[in-house]
Amino acid sequence: MTELKLAKNQEDALDNSPSLLGDDQFHGAAPGTRPTLTTGGQPAFFSCWEIHAYYGESYVVQGVSFDVREGEIVALLGRNGAGKTSTLRTIARVDDPALKSGELWLDHKPLHEMKAFKAAQSGIGLVPEDRRIIQGLTVEENLKLAQIAPPVGWSIERIYDLFPRLAERRTQEGTTLSGGEQQMLAIGRTLARDVKLLLLDEPYEGLAPVIVQEIERTLDQIKSLGMTTIIVEQNAIAALHLADRAIILDMGQVVFDGKSQEVLDNAELRQQYLAI
Ligand SMILES: Nc1ncnc2c1ncn2[C@@H]1O[C@H](COP(=O)(O)OP(=O)(O)O)[C@@H](O)[C@H]1O
Ligand SMILES: [Mg+2]
Repeated sequence: MTELKLAKNQEDALDNSPSLLGDDQFHGAAPGTRPTLTTGGQPAFFSCWEIHAYYGESYVVQGVSFDVREGEIVALLGRNGAGKTSTLRTIARVDDPALKSGELWLDHKPLHEMKAFKAAQSGIGLVPEDRRIIQGLTVEENLKLAQIAPPVGWSIERIYDLFPRLAERRTQEGTTLSGGEQQMLAIGRTLARDVKLLLLDEPYEGLAPVIVQEIERTLDQIKSLGMTTIIVEQNAIAALHLADRAIILDMGQVVFDGKSQEVLDNAELRQQYLAI
């Protein structure tokens, strides 16, 4: 039996659930039960509870629940179309997909009551898959623009210390950077704001292995600074090496919540839900 972080009421819920996944996998919170995965009755630093979200009529996030502790890195994994991006977008409170029910808490603040702008001000830092570097602005202008509205996070110099390549290209137009450098800029721009929860959507996508390694090293540094992070990656093995914990989504639902090492050790689980 693997070690799982389940509240007593969730263990009870598991007893009544179909055994399709085996008894060592997490099925998400049962309706009406609230995950309290941290000890001592303290709410987790970040918590989503039974969130349901839709693109129009299309029901994509189907009752997702999980917690993240302060300083923890969680890999959110699953096949293409499993609902990873939609879950991150729901957490960031962008309009689509629309959150219909459930709760989202970050550092005691109710994100579920906020729009994207307020959620960002409260510390959500989404680095979207397409990076969205602003055209016509230099690297430095892209970074400075992120600091226009308070609360301000890292200084520009600190971001350059983390990404020396950005310092070298500070006067270059952001959209003319290589894919890897644009990813660095997208992460740097997010850190320029006061981020409490960093959401990375496929940061390694489309990048050469040597650049992936460079960004991995940077994410390791960010991790050592204690930044709470959720990373979505198709490159699951790389994400599992970085993350403490893994959550696997399938068809908009949580099918596993446990230690990264458990996923690395469980070929059957990887084959079934990650196709690796
Ligand atoms: N803008 C959208 N409108 C309608 N359906 C969408 C939209 N974006 C994604 N979907 C659907 O939502 C589901 C989850 O997609 P997504 O969250 O992008 O998955 P993942 O990031 O895990 O690949 C898929 O079935 C996808 O087709
Ligand atoms: Mg995606």
